[in-house]
Formats: sequence, C-alpha cells, structure tokens
Amino acid sequence: MRKHIVAGNWKMNNDLAQTQTLISELKKQSKTSNAEVMIAPSYTNLWPAFQATREEGEIEVVAQNMHFAENGAYTGEVNASMLKSIGIKTVILGHSERRAYYNETDDSLAKKVDAALANDMRIIFCFGEELQDRKAGNEENIVESQIKNALFHLDASAFKHIILAYEPVWAIGTGETASPEQAQNMHAFIRKTLATKYGDDVANSVSILYGGSVKPNNAKEIFGKPDVDGGLIGGASLKAEDFYAIVNAF
Ligand code: 13P
Repeated sequence: MRKHIVAGNWKMNNDLAQTQTLISELKKQSKTSNAEVMIAPSYTNLWPAFQATREEGEIEVVAQNMHFAENGAYTGEVNASMLKSIGIKTVILGHSERRAYYNETDDSLAKKVDAALANDMRIIFCFGEELQDRKAGNEENIVESQIKNALFHLDASAFKHIILAYEPVWAIGTGETASPEQAQNMHAFIRKTLATKYGDDVANSVSILYGGSVKPNNAKEIFGKPDVDGGLIGGASLKAEDFYAIVNAF
C-alpha cells in the first residue's frame, strides 16, 4: 500500500522562538490517521526542530531545498551532507517558488535529484503548471515534461526514495484549490506517465501528494480521491490545529 503523507512547507516563516512554539503546539495534537507527518522549517531552524521532534518520532523534519554540489564556492548554499549531518533525511526539490524566483530548471533539478539520491536522501519532488498553461489546456504536457526532464534518467529502483508533489502554481497561496476532480485527473495522469516508463509496480508504489490551498475544510474531499496520497501544505501548516486537522483528514 502507498504511504499517506502530509508535509508542512513552512517556507520563509518562523524564527527560532516561533519554530519552537509551533513544534510544541504540534506535539500537543493527536494523530488519528495513518499519515506520515513532516515539517519543513527554514535552514536555520532545522537543527533545533530536529532536536525537538526526534524523541517522539511522530514528526519528520525535512529541508526545503539543497544544492547539488558536494562542496565548494557556492555562497549561501547548503548541500546534502550538511543536511544529513544534522539528521535530515528528506528534502523538497523543485518547488515552484524556487523555479520562479531562483531560476531552478529541469537540468539543475536533475542534478539535485542525483545528489540527494547519492546521499541516500528521500526526495519530495514538486512540479505543476501555471494558470496560463491550464487555460490553454496544456497542463498535462507541462507536468509530463517537468517529471520526465528531472526524473526519467533514473532507474526504477530510485523511485523507492521519491515522493511526488503536484502543486498547480495557480492554487498556491491563492485560496483557489484544484477541485478534487482536477487533482484526481492529474494524479492519475502522473501515475500513467510513470507506468509507461517504469511499469505498473513502480507507478502504483509512488506516493503523489497534492499541494495548493489545502485547508481543514477541503482536505478530506481531496484526500478521498484514489490517486491522492497526501498533501504538501503551505499556509495551513503554520497553525498546529489546522495542520493536524489536515493530517487527520485521512
Ligand atoms: P499553500 O498551502 O499556502 O497554498 O502552499 C502550498 C505550497 O506551496 C506547499 O509547498
């Protein structure tokens, strides 16, 4: 069975004190679902977040990004071994905000994917179309090319370490969610794309998350769709009660 996963992408929010407060609020919530829970604080708060959660073990702390190089003159960057050295085992790659504001391309993402896998890290790989693509009926082509260009050089075995996250750009932070049907249709298309290249076993084993304005009041309907295996949550992950209402929507 595929894993259910709910991951909170905190983006550039929460300083140290706020991180500690939110984690202690999260620890007071009770999990009634079988979903794996992850949070992605900023780099500066990964270590304290890891320390604050490791004993209980319910919440995995993951990184929002990393560089592909092993070491070197890349001012401001963080690599896989730095993340691993503080206990981080999973990294989000390819978020649309990274693509839009920091020029992340399919090529650079393919390198990041390789670097993460070479370091035995798990990847939450994000992709999704922009509004103009959907208006033009081009969303499947965009998504297919984002997946193929960054991932299809991999062997089938790599997909044990990959979680996919479909995040239509027009639904991120806008309050406008893809309808459960739109999410399901795209997730089924993604699975079909994987099956064509790697076969049904791989396609049916990869968790595909939906992200984009998931809230407590719409999570159940979206997670109820057969090819939606969880969510990547932005705004609603910054409030412990809302986040756990989403975790418990499974
Ligand atoms: P929102 O839930 O705020 O729309 O953000 C989604 C997202 O970008 C998660 O990575």
